[in-house]
Amino acid sequence: MKSLGNLGVSAARIEDDIAALAAITDPDRPYTRRAFTPRHAEGRDYLRRRFEAAGLATTIDASGNLIGRRPGASPGRGTIMLGSHSDTVPDGGRFDGIAGVIAALEVARALHDGGIALDHDLEVVDFLAEEVSIFGVSCVGSRGMAGVRPPEWLSRRQGDQTLEQGIAEAGGDPHQVARREDVAAFLELHIEQGTVLEAAGLDIGVVTAITGIARIEIVLEGRADHAGTTPMGRRRDALVAAARLVTAIEAEATRLAAGPRYFAATVGEFEMLPNAANVVPSHVRLLIDARSQDAGDLADFSAAIEAHADALAEATQVSIASRRISDAGAVPMDAGVVSALDDAVGAIGATGCRLASGAGHDAAFLARISRAGMVFVPCRDGRSHAPEEWAETDAIALGAAVLLKTVQTLDTQGKGQADGSHSG
Ligand code: GLV
Ligand code: MN
Ligand code: MN
Repeated sequence: MKSLGNLGVSAARIEDDIAALAAITDPDRPYTRRAFTPRHAEGRDYLRRRFEAAGLATTIDASGNLIGRRPGASPGRGTIMLGSHSDTVPDGGRFDGIAGVIAALEVARALHDGGIALDHDLEVVDFLAEEVSIFGVSCVGSRGMAGVRPPEWLSRRQGDQTLEQGIAEAGGDPHQVARREDVAAFLELHIEQGTVLEAAGLDIGVVTAITGIARIEIVLEGRADHAGTTPMGRRRDALVAAARLVTAIEAEATRLAAGPRYFAATVGEFEMLPNAANVVPSHVRLLIDARSQDAGDLADFSAAIEAHADALAEATQVSIASRRISDAGAVPMDAGVVSALDDAVGAIGATGCRLASGAGHDAAFLARISRAGMVFVPCRDGRSHAPEEWAETDAIALGAAVLLKTVQTLDTQGKGQADGSHSG
């Protein structure tokens, strides 16, 4: 790997911050810091202190995003924004999202230490709830910032809490729709969560596009009955119907994945009631996460699953209702930002390649309001969404150096225009 030499970023500071956040976890489930929980708020308190120590004016926006701001020298040029997320999946890792927030912070610190003034305002952002949250929806903060968070999501409920309350408790204003119009460029660093870079021995991945993701919630209602006395032919067992449906989902995804385009689908959430040994299961809720770069494949998948569900409902006398709760198409990154990132990789003497992302990211929503680009850094064995997730500090610091260089390039582009708006 290229040595960090004199690239202006501090690997030691990055390592310290990532270690400090890793320690803020549900103690019996490292590493768990889910959005809308006290643990997440604790992580945010830490980040707020670090943002402020870096001289950033720190606030929470209406969508619940934590934002540290450094004013630019030329008011009206717009904002160059950097960031990712500090929430985790349950039993997640130390780097997914966190590496990007800390690398963004390190860019702000490096600019400060180097006495480098930018024309643009710079913002470092920890987006709220990028992962699928306790409310079953993801990218809550970045969708909000792009003005595309569906209003009906506010009434989504977990126990006695609604998403509306969750956003308010995170410091946001759930009723304000806050599409940002001033973001001139957005950059996000993330661990790759795959093995392309590691296998090729490359330092940096420059992302060309982010996968489309559809999430389909399916609720099966059968009938609770005595497990000892209800004859096998007379049951309306919601779990048996759900089990067949899960198998059909896997088969359909495998069929599409055998085609020319990447496809993946997972039933990652599954709840069953009453979950008692001597009661026929009456209720199942499951959540499908389906991914593709191709909207047609996602539509074909949904149609096939609905057809399976209808046939199963008929055969099992279990009612099956399905609902697409989110549907985000694949998003290309901005060609100009991609080429600025490529140039930065070369300029600092790192090695890299372009690649597409099979994971979702906040950048997919920022791309709706700004030019957007992403940098991937290698992670061990591609493991992610698991406690074993690992990325070397120097790899993250090198990625931060690419961000730093790219920020300086983007800051000088279009110099002389007094307009911070963008065209895409
Ligand atoms: C984000 O972690 C995703 O689900 O891809
Ligand atoms: Mn993730
Ligand atoms: Mn992530």
